[in-house]
Amino acid sequence: MPATKSASPKDPAEDVLRGTVERITDEVVRSLDDAPDPRLRQVLSSLVSHLHALATEVALTQAEWEAGIAFLTATGQKSDDKRQEFILLSDVLGLSMVVDAVCENLPPGATESTVLGPFYVADSPERQYGESIAEQPSGEPTWVSGVVRDLDGRPIAGAELDVWQNAADRLYAVQNPDVPQNNLRGRFRARDDGSYGFVAVRPTDYTIPTDGPVGDLLRATARHPWRPAHLHLIVRAPGYRTVTTHVFDSESEHLASDAVFAVKPSLVRTFVQRDEDDPARPAGIVGPWTSVDNDLVLTPLD
Ligand SMILES: [Fe+2]
Repeated sequence: MPATKSASPKDPAEDVLRGTVERITDEVVRSLDDAPDPRLRQVLSSLVSHLHALATEVALTQAEWEAGIAFLTATGQKSDDKRQEFILLSDVLGLSMVVDAVCENLPPGATESTVLGPFYVADSPERQYGESIAEQPSGEPTWVSGVVRDLDGRPIAGAELDVWQNAADRLYAVQNPDVPQNNLRGRFRARDDGSYGFVAVRPTDYTIPTDGPVGDLLRATARHPWRPAHLHLIVRAPGYRTVTTHVFDSESEHLASDAVFAVKPSLVRTFVQRDEDDPARPAGIVGPWTSVDNDLVLTPLD
């Protein structure tokens, strides 16, 4: 008679450990029972369960736990009103794009969203149609234009575009105290026919900040810090869902390896090279320039 295959013997120590962790997890989750906000209770319960499972799965050591605490402490200490290291951490771990995927749920045809990033500053100056966001020479001028529409193709007059970008030196104004702090950012309104247009500069690929804990993490994991060239936009209109998005330059060499995993094919655009004598050259542009068409489609709130 052939021998039957027996299951591998159980490690009694593993059973004891599993039982101990389950008891601790249950106790902590039960301690949240009286939380008045049910959503807070749900999120914290899940967080605790996943954290406990993580520590068990990788057999986290005391030294690793201490290193993790030190890392998060340094991340907080690196953050202030101009530097958001926690958003950067969320971005490089892909969490920001997972939250985007969970929340987006937009119908086909709507402009897709992507990460906010760590360089957004509220209350940009209001600017007029055709104005430049460059308050000093900042790179090759780019005419950015399009029409803001709803899902049925109707123009959305008065839609607000809140735009910001980096300069040819790769820096956002918020990273560079030597430039006007409103350089390369501004808020525009779509005209009655939904059209908008402004002068930007052609964005450049740039590295996310690597002088903090997130940079240490990238180096420790042999990852590069580059983001593909892009403009940032937040588009708002009463009665419509606000969309936080990008315009990516199709010629960027980092489209396939964005350090924050934020590229969506529908957001990639062609920047067309133009000569100074091009009759379509907008007023105020001198020398060679580029143009990019970027229509936007918003989703009704209901
Ligand atoms: Fe950016």
